[in-house]
Order: sequence, then structure tokens, then C-alpha cells
Amino acid sequence: MPRLLSAWRRAARSPRRDRDGPKDALSPHERRELAAGVRRLSAGLTRERELAGARYLDEPRLLGAYLLFYWPISYAQAREALGELPRRPRTALDLGSGPGPMAFAALDAGASEATCADRSKPALAMARTLAMESGESLATREWEPSRPLPEGRFDLVVMGHLLNELFASAKDKTERRAALLRQAVSRLNPGGTLLVLEPALRETSRGLLEVRDALVAAGLAIRAPCLYRGGCPALSRPSDWCHAERPWRRPKVVEELARAAGLHKEALKMSYLAVAPEGEGWSEQPAGRLFRIVSEPLEGKGRRRYIGCGAEGRVGLALQEKHRSAGNAAFFSLRRGEVISLTDTEQKGDGLSLDDRTRVELVARAGRPILVG
Ligand SMILES: C[S@@+](CC[C@H](N)C(=O)[O-])C[C@H]1O[C@@H](n2cnc3c(N)ncnc32)[C@H](O)[C@@H]1O
Repeated sequence: MPRLLSAWRRAARSPRRDRDGPKDALSPHERRELAAGVRRLSAGLTRERELAGARYLDEPRLLGAYLLFYWPISYAQAREALGELPRRPRTALDLGSGPGPMAFAALDAGASEATCADRSKPALAMARTLAMESGESLATREWEPSRPLPEGRFDLVVMGHLLNELFASAKDKTERRAALLRQAVSRLNPGGTLLVLEPALRETSRGLLEVRDALVAAGLAIRAPCLYRGGCPALSRPSDWCHAERPWRRPKVVEELARAAGLHKEALKMSYLAVAPEGEGWSEQPAGRLFRIVSEPLEGKGRRRYIGCGAEGRVGLALQEKHRSAGNAAFFSLRRGEVISLTDTEQKGDGLSLDDRTRVELVARAGRPILVG
């Protein structure tokens, strides 16, 4: 946060006004100005969506608000998603990078070089300033989807909150988005990953799932979060979508800006997809009946319930309190995103009922890879 703040102050030529306060906190004037930008970005990118696809990061005030509010959120989301990959990337390409939160997350996760690509010159300049301040190896390229991708091959290509801004009004938006993702996949080194993050809104998340299905139909394998290898079962009911939610301690400046802008961003929420290179199959999985928890705990009368998604699709999983045993106790404290294995269940309605014979084992925590053996 201190680096983001000082890069913004330098770009905005905003020396801190109150002499006495700490350097890593906002002055009241700065807070007011940034909060106005955050409100505008929030309304324009989530509610009305008139900013989606517009050149909002070319506007210095909105770039500043992005840097001090959304950048840390995107960065934390990327760190969570990168934690699920089987290998550390060494080289990374960040498409639609803005000021580079995804690229910096890749660098902090072990990459030694990263390239940021975007059409916004001011956002790329900000990414370069941040890299200079932190001594990171970062290149920038002006890019948009009608132009060829930056040269080279990469262990990681990442797209953070870009996809929903592309081709939004085209009838064939899913096909065009999928074609861009396939181009990106073609630049991966063996064992590499294309990581796509999107906002956890119903519309943007379902848009990502539709693209996922197009990629799966074309033979690509998904590394995370999917265990189901067919068409996404969340798409069969218009009210369903799929997102991750992780606890997060917000940096103080983000906290202050959220309060000043009247937003509640307590947990990290995002939809994401990690795609393997062409020709690489789905990852090997540990033996057993695996499910990823894709809902909050759903309380019912005397029972705990979740939605799980596994090789058999998206199903309700329920266990009555009276059937609690040493072997199934883990079920009562599961979190969204965790992967479990189950034995001894019974089909009930459209879900599975667990009982005191059921063994529930935690296979992977949210944000960690599924390990085999
Ligand atoms: C919501 S910001 C995301 C920034 C960053 N990747 C993140 O995750 O926080 C969307 C980015 O996509 C870029 N973008 C939108 N449409 C674009 C296009 N047609 N060509 C290139 N970049 C585009 C914007 O300039 C902006 O940097």
C-alpha cells in the first residue's frame, strides 16, 4: 500500500497536506477525492456498467481510485487463484493489465519477469512506475484484442477483469472471447496456465462459464476450480453461477475508501478459471469421490448443507447434526472453495445425504492445489 500511495501521489502531484499524519494514510482531502472516484468506478463497472469497455483508466482521477482501491483487491484475488496452480510461473503475460495488479501478484508468487499489456497508456505508465519503485522486472506493451499478442511464450497468461469488458454487445461474444482465450493458451509453455479472473456478479460469472464450456468443448482442460469435465452444471439454471469467496484483511486505505464511498467489500469474491495448454489433459486427481464446495454453509433444521461440484456434477450435500461422528465432523466447518472426499452417501432427491458412516476428508483448502499422493 505505501508504494501504491506514493506512486499515486507522485502521478497526481498531490503532496500530503496534513503534516502530522502518517505517510501511509490518506489525508481527508485525498480520501474525499479518491472516494468520489471509487463510487464512480463501482457504479460504472458493477451496477450500470456504462464504464465497462470504456477508457476509464485514461482519466487520472479514476486511475488513482483504481490504484488505491481495486488494485489491492485484484492483487489479493490473483494471489489466491495463483495458490491453486500446480507450478510456480517464471514468466507471465498480463492481458488487460491496467496498472498491473495481476502481474505483480505473479512476480510476488515467484515469476522473475512479467509483461503488462493494455490499451491504456496512463495505466501502463503507472505499472512501470510501480515496477521501478519495487525493483521488479516488468515490460509494458500497448495492446488490444484486434492486435497480435505480445511476442513470446509464457508460463502464465493472466486476464484480470478484462473478459467481461470485451465484445459485450456482440451476438457471438462467447465465441469471440473463447477465440481470444485460445490465442492466449497457444502462447503457454508446457505445464503453463491461462488464468482468467472475473467479477463475481451473476452476469459476468455466467459469461465466464459460457466461455469455459466453449473451451472444454474444443478439448481444453480446466485446472481449477472445476472437477466436472462436462458442460458447467451451474448454467442449467439461470439463477445459478459460480464464484469463490475468501476471507481477507483489507488494507487500511482500502477499508477507509470503502467506508467513505459507502461500499461493503469485506470478503474477496471472484469468479476464476485456470486453463491448461492445448494437448494437456485434465489433472490427475486423488482417489475417491471428490467435491468442491461451491456455496456458503446452508443451515437447515438440525442439519448442515452445502452445494458441492464434482465428477458427478453440482449436487446438494446434507448431513444431520444427529449423525455427527468422528469421521464426518469436518463437514460442519467447511468453507467455500475447499475440496473434500466423501464415502458412504445416499441419493436423496437431487442431492446426497451423508450419515454417521460417511467419512469426510479435506483434500485441499481453498487457494491451495489438489495434491495427488
Ligand atoms: C477492470 S480493469 C482490470 C485491470 C486489472 N487487470 C485488474 O485485474 O485489476 C480492465 C482493464 O481492461 C482494459 N481493457 C478494456 N478493454 C480493452 C481493450 N479493448 N483492449 C485492451 N485493454 C482493454 C482496460 O484498459 C483496463 O485496464
